[in-house]
Amino acid sequence: MDKTFRIAPSILSANFAKLGQEIVDVIRSGTDIVHFDVMDNHYVPNLTIGPLVCEAIRPLTDAIIDVHLMVKPVDRIIPDFAKAGANMITFHPEGSEHIDRSLSLVRDSGCKSGLVFNPATPLHYLDHVMDKIDMVLLMSVNPGFGGQKFIPETLNKLKIVRQKIDAYYEKTGRQIWLEVDGGVNANNIAEIAKAGADTFVAGSAIFGSGKDADPNRYDTVVKSLRASLATI
Ligand code: DX5
Ligand code: ZN
Repeated sequence: MDKTFRIAPSILSANFAKLGQEIVDVIRSGTDIVHFDVMDNHYVPNLTIGPLVCEAIRPLTDAIIDVHLMVKPVDRIIPDFAKAGANMITFHPEGSEHIDRSLSLVRDSGCKSGLVFNPATPLHYLDHVMDKIDMVLLMSVNPGFGGQKFIPETLNKLKIVRQKIDAYYEKTGRQIWLEVDGGVNANNIAEIAKAGADTFVAGSAIFGSGKDADPNRYDTVVKSLRASLATI
């Protein structure tokens, strides 16, 4: 089984006035995935970016664009993100009346699909849709804002999902990624990896770290995240 660790900078904490350059710089510093947070001021109390921005950044990088939909409902907007160049689209079960249908819609639009679990959302939504999921995303903060503190109970939840994913892999040979989102930094990433995550969203830990204008400003923090991961 593949044990690769992937780092996914959340561009929510980037400098939006220079978004294109921020993305180029952060991927160049050794990260793998652009985590694209979409908020609608309805499902979550904040408003961010949509398909037009996804389309604008698509030509700047070959990295995976991982669209995290914090919107309700989800179905109307899924094909728009697929057309705008998203590679993965994840959504919250609470955002869809018909979860199985929405997962199929993501796949039929040509993207990898995933379900996102808030800290208090039970995992049973996974029970009958494992075949339709490419990634499970566990929120380690309540969705809506960057810069919040990691909720430690997420470690227990990660262990449970890791077991489910490994059992599924034994049965089918198909890998499902396990991503964690919220409050991840160089001090806790190793513990989070030990609990079973393989893909790590980091917003403020990466973008909060640099001064402007230096294209290598993200190297140090990304190196320290990698160094922590190398200890496990
Ligand atoms: C929160 C978003 C996260 C957020 C993470 O609702 O889904 O992706 O930007 O930011 P940090 O890493 O600062 O917690
Ligand atoms: Zn996110």
